[in-house]
Amino acid sequence: MNDQSLVNYLREMETWANHIAKADASRPFSEDPSFQEEMNELLSQIKEWNRDASSFNLENAHELNKLAEKIQQRFGEDERQGDSVPIGGHQLPPLPYDYAALEPYIDRRIMQLHHDKHHQSYVDGLNKAEREMQKARRNKDYDLIKHWEREAAFNGAGHYLHTIFWEIMSPRGGGKPGGELLKEIENSFGSFQKFKEHYSAAAKKVEGSGWTILVWSPRSHRLEILQAEKHQNLSQWDVIPLLPIDVWEHAYYLQYENDRGKYVDNWWNVVNWDAVQDRYKKARQVKWAKF
Ligand SMILES: [Fe+2]
Repeated sequence: MNDQSLVNYLREMETWANHIAKADASRPFSEDPSFQEEMNELLSQIKEWNRDASSFNLENAHELNKLAEKIQQRFGEDERQGDSVPIGGHQLPPLPYDYAALEPYIDRRIMQLHHDKHHQSYVDGLNKAEREMQKARRNKDYDLIKHWEREAAFNGAGHYLHTIFWEIMSPRGGGKPGGELLKEIENSFGSFQKFKEHYSAAAKKVEGSGWTILVWSPRSHRLEILQAEKHQNLSQWDVIPLLPIDVWEHAYYLQYENDRGKYVDNWWNVVNWDAVQDRYKKARQVKWAKF
């Protein structure tokens, strides 16, 4: 990393930490003194380094990152506690790494716009749709229900898929999954190579904007690869998404222009297989009757 990118890193870490500090206000762990302590520690370290940015080095960046990861983990633990999101109360989840972390495969400019602008607009759109539908129930006025249902599906699918998308990538990604997931991929597709070729071809050929998604089907007890046009079309409702790739232009155009194929090929270098494995194990616990 050169000096400028370290300075950028520090700036991005500051934005991230401020974002977290704001976002956590309604979370159950926000009262926890050890969380407060970690958060204060991170914010004060960032403040100190900002005063003396010229001596900030790679090792310091790693230290900051370790602290940030610890804080990030709490969001995951919080999710497992199962408290529900209030109507109209969805929040933009923080990125689990800084904007530049996936370079050279995905530019920081893309990540910043993609997360802060695009994902935020899905969160806002979903919240608005939920509040409008709540109003409709209250007033027994369903004249516009078709419109708000569409908005809820489009923005909701956008919000949930992006939330998974950030998690299933990592600066330490790439390679192959291990253990059970690899075995299941081999069962379902013949080999890891065949799976990767099928997935890449599907991603490159999504018509217009959309996604390609590896899903677990609790009904057929197999993995499947699906395309989703926009966020919500062509999806199966009975499956659990494991590995989505965003092939909307906003996910790659600034860096790859119209070369979606190159973006898809490079994207494999940032796949966080541990996160996918974790989603797979949880998905396997859902057991529908087989039909
Ligand atoms: Fe996107």
